[in-house]
Amino acid sequence: MLHCQQELFSLDPDVHYLNCAYKAPLLKSAEEAAKKALIRDRNPFKIQGPDFFEDAKIIRQEFAKLIQTKEENIAIIPSTSYGLASVFKNLKCGPGKHAYCIENDFPSDYLTIKKWCSTQNAELRTLSFPKGIEGDLRESSQIIIDSLNSDTSVLLMSAIHWMTGENYDLKAIGNKCEELGIYFVVDGTQFVGAMPINVEENKIDALICAAYKWLMGPYSTGLAYFHPKLHNGEPIEESWINRKGSENFANLTDYNLEYAEGAGRFNMGQYSNFILLPMLKSGLLQINSWQPKNIQDYCFELGKPLFKCLEKLGIQFESEAKRAHHLFGIPLDESINLDILKNKMAEERLILSFRGNNLRVALHLFNNKEDINALIRVLEASKILD
Ligand SMILES: Cc1ncc(COP(=O)(O)O)c(C=O)c1O
Repeated sequence: MLHCQQELFSLDPDVHYLNCAYKAPLLKSAEEAAKKALIRDRNPFKIQGPDFFEDAKIIRQEFAKLIQTKEENIAIIPSTSYGLASVFKNLKCGPGKHAYCIENDFPSDYLTIKKWCSTQNAELRTLSFPKGIEGDLRESSQIIIDSLNSDTSVLLMSAIHWMTGENYDLKAIGNKCEELGIYFVVDGTQFVGAMPINVEENKIDALICAAYKWLMGPYSTGLAYFHPKLHNGEPIEESWINRKGSENFANLTDYNLEYAEGAGRFNMGQYSNFILLPMLKSGLLQINSWQPKNIQDYCFELGKPLFKCLEKLGIQFESEAKRAHHLFGIPLDESINLDILKNKMAEERLILSFRGNNLRVALHLFNNKEDINALIRVLEASKILD
């Protein structure tokens, strides 16, 4: 198993940062790449033609490797909302159709599908999962599967729930979508990079990820997978660089109407960003060398004493099969004194986010037992015992 990778980051040693779901800390390798890129910018002539394309190519290759597909299916985007806008611009549905999203999904997802439904005159239905449901991860997934029918045009969902880490059976859901001809659009922002995924096996039509969390990239970068059936779609902008032959700078005004191959037409304008791409490349290379499966295994081991503590304190939590190991919510019911919790967190310099009624815990390879022990102390102090 991997050991703690703290030495690859420059996190403040006096804080317990359990919040990669908010933003990843900067890798030292990404910091070095950014410094080099900034210094190169002093002399713009050092940025040469191939620099517009080479890092982008490596990034598309590395991301393709991570999600188990081909480089040509990948586009570089600035945000989840941008990637979703590109996808939904190309989805159409007939009269009487409806689309599904998941209750309390991230606003960039909900707002995109809501707008799309209103322009398509389609009904938007929201899937929710009754609380206190017994059993394993099939249950929420089964609710999703049982809700889909031949009048469903699109299912948009996050690969795990962004507030609670609830885990879904993407493969079973993807199979059902394929069987019924439903577009399966997945937000992988809180999943990809930390958990293994195979987009083709899961029959995903589009996978959209912001890169500043589990992909260890800088803010304002993201990556998207477009299934070949979307490759003839229309992008949301008409950039010169997304055209065939754009490498030939001398001929740019021979306006080429043909888009770049595969998902290349969905790359954002100025995707070559000379500062951000070297940072994103460092993040992806690092993740592919760690491997998401090893990140899950590390987080699983690290989280064990925390779950023992939750059990001892009588705090409810999702069963092992229903939650991701890198991200999960601790539900904050009336048995937790919130004032004490917040004060103790500040005292311990413990950094986590509150999302809905949950204290959201995000673990990564830069975390260690000390971080978990700090969280345990905070929970023990704030639990009101009967
Ligand atoms: C599930 C999920 N999707 C997307 C985002 C970010 O969205 P955007 O890139 O549109 O800002 C977040 C941020 O927390 C998220 O948790």
